[in-house]
Amino acid sequence: YWSVDKNVDKEESYSQIQQAADLLKKNEVVAFPTETVYGLGGNAKEDSAIAKIFAAKGRPSDNPLIIHIAKRAQLDELVEKVPATAEKLMDAFWPGPLTIIFEKKQGMLSEVATAGLSTVGIRMPDHPVALRIIEESGLPIAAPSANRSGKPSPTKASHVKEDLDSFIAGIVDGGPTGVGVESTVVDCTEETVVILRPGGITKEQLESVVGEVRMDQALTNKEIKPKSPGMKYTHYAPNAPLFLVDGSKEKIQLLVEEEKQKGHKVGVLTTAENKGYYHADFIYACGKRADLSTVATELYDGLRSFDHKQVDIIFGEMFPAEGVGQAIMNRLMKAASHQVIK
Ligand code: TXA
Ligand code: MG
Repeated sequence: YWSVDKNVDKEESYSQIQQAADLLKKNEVVAFPTETVYGLGGNAKEDSAIAKIFAAKGRPSDNPLIIHIAKRAQLDELVEKVPATAEKLMDAFWPGPLTIIFEKKQGMLSEVATAGLSTVGIRMPDHPVALRIIEESGLPIAAPSANRSGKPSPTKASHVKEDLDSFIAGIVDGGPTGVGVESTVVDCTEETVVILRPGGITKEQLESVVGEVRMDQALTNKEIKPKSPGMKYTHYAPNAPLFLVDGSKEKIQLLVEEEKQKGHKVGVLTTAENKGYYHADFIYACGKRADLSTVATELYDGLRSFDHKQVDIIFGEMFPAEGVGQAIMNRLMKAASHQVIK
C-alpha cells in the first residue's frame, strides 16, 4: 500500500510508482487511481496476469477488460485501423474518460483480456499517477474497476482495500478520484458512433465533435442484448434494497416513515439541497443537484456508505438523465435493479 502525491515528479512518488510498475512487469496486479475510478491493473499481454484480475474481482470471463495506454504511439501496435471518428474523438477527449472500441490486431494482447472478441476497448486515462505507472511499465495495462464484481466502483483507495486487499499485490493511493463514474464506452467500428456505456464524457460532448451519436438500444430496452458485455450484469448494488422515488421529497419522507414503523433501519440517498429535510436513520448527501458532476463524484461512496451503516432499505432521489446525469441514472437504475416508485 503506497500513498502517492499527484505531483509524480517528487522523489518519493517516483520510487513508489516504480515499485508499482515493477510489480506489473512481473505480472502481478496492482490497483491505482484514474480520473474516473480506481483500476486494477495487469499486463494486458500476459494471460497469467489477466487471470489474477478476473480471480480478484470474481469477474465473469466473458466480460472484456479496458486496455489503458499512456501514449498515442501504443495504440498502433494494438489496433487494426483507426477510423476517422476515433481520430477526432481521441484528439478531443484523450487523455480522458472515453474508451474507444477498435478492431483489434491479432496476437498483440492476451485473449483472456479481450474475452476472445475481435475488438478491443482502449483508453488513455487523465491522471498523472496512472499515466506514469503505465509509462514506467512499458506495457499496455488492462484495468477494470478495482471492485469485487457487482459492487460499486471504487473512488477512494479505502474502497479498494475493502473489496480486494487480500487478493492483490498492491494499492497505490492517489486520493479520491475526480469524475466518479467510469469512462464512456463508444463503438467506433461502424459509421455512426454508438455509446455502449454512458460515462464521464457526455453524448452532447461527443456530438459536438463527430455529429450524430446513437445510444446502444440495450441501454433503454432490457430485452435487447447489450454490445458491451459488462452492461448485462447486475452492478453497483448496496446490500440493502434501493428504491428510486419518482416523486417529491415529501413522498420520500412518507415512505421512510412507513418503513420505520415496521422497525426497519432506513437510509436516504439525497443531495446537499435536500439533506436537511429528511428524518431517517442514515442520510447521504451526494453532491449538489445544481451541479450533477458533483453527484457523479460522490455517487459510489454514497452507495457504499449504506453498507457501512447496515440499513435495511434505501430510498433514493432521481436525477435528470441529461449530460452526466445519463451516466448517473444508468448506474442508479442498476443499483436499484430498476425498482422505481412512482
Ligand atoms: O473508467 C473506466 O473505464 C474504469 C477505469 C479503471 O479506467 N474502468 C472500467 O472497466 O470501468 P470495467 O472493466 O469495469 O468496465 C469495462 C466495460 C465493460 O462494460 C465491458 O464489457 C466493456 O467496457 N468493454 C470492454 N471491452 C469491450 C469490447 N471489446 N466491446 C464492448 N465492450 C467492451
Ligand atoms: Mg467495473
